[in-house]
Amino acid sequence: MNREAQDTAAERAADPPLFYRAHVFCCLNRRPSGHPRGCCRDKGSVRLRNYMKARAKELGLTDVRVNESGCLDRCELGPTLVIYPEGVWYTYRTPEDVDEILEVHVIGGGRVARLMLHPEDEGPPR
Ligand code: FES
Repeated sequence: MNREAQDTAAERAADPPLFYRAHVFCCLNRRPSGHPRGCCRDKGSVRLRNYMKARAKELGLTDVRVNESGCLDRCELGPTLVIYPEGVWYTYRTPEDVDEILEVHVIGGGRVARLMLHPEDEGPPR
């Protein structure tokens, strides 16, 4: 392989630029009634995710995607969401929480410490 071909191969193997500046995954999973772990949907995740998606659009955040996800396996702490590429997790309960996450984290690049989840926070049985 000549030098030019090597350079091209290396360029192709490098991580591409981000397609979305921020990608938010909101768990909308539903578990059967009475499940011991509960679920995000029973805690209002659909309403909150729809609100977040609408607010992101109103704010003109065309480079931000707010997607629904299946179970993120931190059900007890839900509703949960995770923002990439940072991989920062939040629990959120109200539209005001959503506004703060959008304004402080997604737009401002900061963190909403009071809502952040950490690896040591209670999670699934391992
Ligand atoms: S149901 Fe939402 S994290 Fe499992």
